[in-house]
Amino acid sequence: MRLSGRCQTAPLPEEGPGAQGCACLSTEDHSLGWVRSFRPQKQNLFLHVNDGSSLKSLQVIAPAGMNDPLLGFGCAVEVKGILKKSPHSKQPVELEAEQIRVIGECNPVDFPFKIKERHSLEYIRQFLHLRCRTNAFSSLLRIRSEATAAVHSYFKNNGFLLIHTPTITSNDCEGAGELFQVEPPGTTFANEGSFFSVPVYLTVSGQLHLEVMSGAFPRVYTFGPTFRAENSQSRRHLAEFFMVEAEISFTESIEDLTKVMEELFRSVTESVLAHCEEDVDLFHKYVAPGHRVSPEGHSITYTEAIDILKRSSETFTFPTDWGCDLMTEHEKFLVKHCGNIPVFVTDYPYDLKPFYARDNQDHPKHTAAAVDLLVPGVGELCGGSLREERLDLLRSRLGEYLDLRRFGSVPHGGFGLGFERYLQCILGVDNIKDVIPFPRFSHSCLL
Ligand code: 4AD
Repeated sequence: MRLSGRCQTAPLPEEGPGAQGCACLSTEDHSLGWVRSFRPQKQNLFLHVNDGSSLKSLQVIAPAGMNDPLLGFGCAVEVKGILKKSPHSKQPVELEAEQIRVIGECNPVDFPFKIKERHSLEYIRQFLHLRCRTNAFSSLLRIRSEATAAVHSYFKNNGFLLIHTPTITSNDCEGAGELFQVEPPGTTFANEGSFFSVPVYLTVSGQLHLEVMSGAFPRVYTFGPTFRAENSQSRRHLAEFFMVEAEISFTESIEDLTKVMEELFRSVTESVLAHCEEDVDLFHKYVAPGHRVSPEGHSITYTEAIDILKRSSETFTFPTDWGCDLMTEHEKFLVKHCGNIPVFVTDYPYDLKPFYARDNQDHPKHTAAAVDLLVPGVGELCGGSLREERLDLLRSRLGEYLDLRRFGSVPHGGFGLGFERYLQCILGVDNIKDVIPFPRFSHSCLL
């Protein structure tokens, strides 16, 4: 029999015992996991064993004689015994041990995490190879996994086809960011022997490949790693991050795009809150106290955004004239002004958006049918646009991109959502490096 139910208790401190237990590797008489607390007493020995399936740990009681010098906080164990109903109201079951085997010892002096201590995210980030053993990071990984499944569920339930877009590409999409060039060591590009005969790069976006597929499938998406050689140490930029991208055909309305973005945001957030309540609570209680997520969004045009910024009494470092890019300080102000909820900003000046964004020719000002979603604490979470499908307006552009418009072209649009920024947004995590298992950024590619 597997112990699968979750038990209801309050969130736990960063380290130390989980409450009660349901370890998914545990069976009625058998438990495998890592020791989260260790309390030898005169008659009995009390352990909490956690296997990463939740914050909860299984309480193990053993006769004091079963103590082993190698047993202690952090070690890996196998416990055999009898699962009993617990006399304590806070924990439904406990394992009465008949045998405890230390599978992997853990020297408490060298182990960077200490029992019953709460460590900051900055501290645990120094130990990329071990941070999955902390409560905070194991919660993050469960939330990340749930959010990933929820992204796929949303698209599956809404008629989208998953496309595996390539990681290596010879185009730079739209010049979305700085490129990482890829070649086997020793290659010179003048040399005909270079692997692909042309320079190739790690993808910055799967958009172009989705646009290709949107010529045959009205709703497509991709979800995978993207790479940008941005020399930034900012708390919201990585050199490798995961992006959720969607492309929708037969639409001429930016509202169709914002609707999908909003539904995606809502659906994934609801799923995470429903299935990872305790893990999310840990963040909202200890990492970002009082943090709340609102799935309700508000929509304004870029022109309205500029009016709001100009009318405000705030002093901004960067200019707020029509035509200027919205900077982080502006994004933050707009989100706050709208009540700290997600804000869709639409219809940007044409010159601020990439060449493929659709020209809003009927607007009095020269704008593009583009939308950014700004969220509290993070700023830009999604960027998208209707794509310019009119061949004459794209004449000066690249060959294949034009071909996509020659053969059965339809009006379409799409967007990309930064998955790590999404996690930052719902959990209130300040630094993007704390929501990805192995962060890559300039001067850092550890492990
Ligand atoms: O706005 P971006 O650059 O959009 C594109 O790449 C489009 N081609 C997507 C599309 O339409 N299919 O990036 C989309 C999102 C941003 O809003 C941001 O959330 C995230 O990707 N992002 C980053 N996240 C972490 N680190 C970085 N360096 C990021 N750059 C962009």
